[in-house]
Amino acid sequence: MSDSPSPASKAWSGRFSEPVSDLVKRYTASVFFDKRMAVQDICGSLAHAKMLARQGIIAADDFAAIERGMAQVATEIEAGSFNWNLDDEDVHLNIEKRLTALIGDAGKRLHTGRSRNDQVATDIRLWLRDTLDTLDGLLADLMRALVDLAEQHASTPLPGFTHLQVAQPVTFGHHLLAYVEMLARDRERFVDARRRVNRLPLGAAALAGTTFPIDRAFVAQELGFDGVCANSLDAVSDRDFAIEFCAAASLVMVHVSRFSEELILWMSPRVGFIDLADRFCTGSSIMPQKKNPDVPELARGKSGRVFGHLMGLLTLMKGQPLAYNKDNQEDKEPLFDTADTLVDTLRIFADLVPGIRVKPEAMAAALRHGYATATDLADYLVKKGLPFRDAHEAVARAVRAAEAKGCDLADLSLVELQDFSSLIGEDIFGVLTVEGSLAARDHVGGTAPAQVKAAIARWRTRL
Ligand code: ARG
Repeated sequence: MSDSPSPASKAWSGRFSEPVSDLVKRYTASVFFDKRMAVQDICGSLAHAKMLARQGIIAADDFAAIERGMAQVATEIEAGSFNWNLDDEDVHLNIEKRLTALIGDAGKRLHTGRSRNDQVATDIRLWLRDTLDTLDGLLADLMRALVDLAEQHASTPLPGFTHLQVAQPVTFGHHLLAYVEMLARDRERFVDARRRVNRLPLGAAALAGTTFPIDRAFVAQELGFDGVCANSLDAVSDRDFAIEFCAAASLVMVHVSRFSEELILWMSPRVGFIDLADRFCTGSSIMPQKKNPDVPELARGKSGRVFGHLMGLLTLMKGQPLAYNKDNQEDKEPLFDTADTLVDTLRIFADLVPGIRVKPEAMAAALRHGYATATDLADYLVKKGLPFRDAHEAVARAVRAAEAKGCDLADLSLVELQDFSSLIGEDIFGVLTVEGSLAARDHVGGTAPAQVKAAIARWRTRL
């Protein structure tokens, strides 16, 4: 028996008496999706090797060779000339094998005191940390786009709906700022998740730690981690940070999906509140008149795949005994697809929002139906001394009368209005206008244009 394996053999095949079948090879390999963590894998390996050299676990020469070889590997990967090989299973073994081909034995020393179990957990965390930073910027971009549009429409009235029935007037700016609030919480969730992502698993080795005198704090510092995972079993086995990311990502998609639903509704000719720029729409191959809001529809639809990935990861994790199990290899595709979906969606929405053409006349016309200022009339009566429940009753009767006449509340004469309450005076007509209704909701969080402008000013300082 020779000490060195045959050229075609796997990193772990010394123990085996027959090669795996091609089907098993394909089934178990992850290189075709985990190669996108190559940069992180190389960074992790370099930090590990540097620590090994500092601790005298490998020679300084070996570290120098590893640095040199890894630079070459990185160049080849970036240039697209790297030969990714299914036989080498995953990103880790592919890179290590090429490194060893380039620099010989020093390459084989790299894996000292390490396992692919802590290596892969480190790579994912590094990858996710970068992704979270990208998403933070993209969320900010979309929020800024919404704030810009809100500023143009801080005083533009449209009906606010509950149960999709006309409820009370709001400004379009106020409506848009509701989404800014949602996205701000999404951002906070990512920032918070990042704290738990940013811990170093390396040093856990396969599951129990290593017999070598390693310096985990040094590696953590080299890689920009805030600290180390404190338990080796936990470090290699849990993917809760990935699940948490998908949960936070799902909420982003919930918010984007609700916004999409509104855009679709608003763009329907039946509503006609907005138009989307042509570049976000498509036509129909059979109906020449159609302009379809494909981008919001797809975003609404894509929320399904993100929720699915969350479910997938929860299910992946739930029955696993400690510590690492190969099940965990299945964490990557859902994670990557979630991130890709979010990145693309947020990017396209930051571009779509400035292209929204608002139609204030249509919004105003919609406000003339549905008695949007009925609550204002009730509040008016309360201010004149009527108990709210009685005021509610009086206004309900006034609405029925207006409905029978086919007119708005403000179209009833003073005498007609006084039929419902003798407390009603001339000053009621200021109250029943949309502008009066909006301006009256003048407190933090209210829809008064002054408050919307103040909210916009607050966002400007934060974004
Ligand atoms: N490709 C593997 C994964 O993604 C790397 C870890 C493999 N570890 C092992 N003991 N087979 O999880």
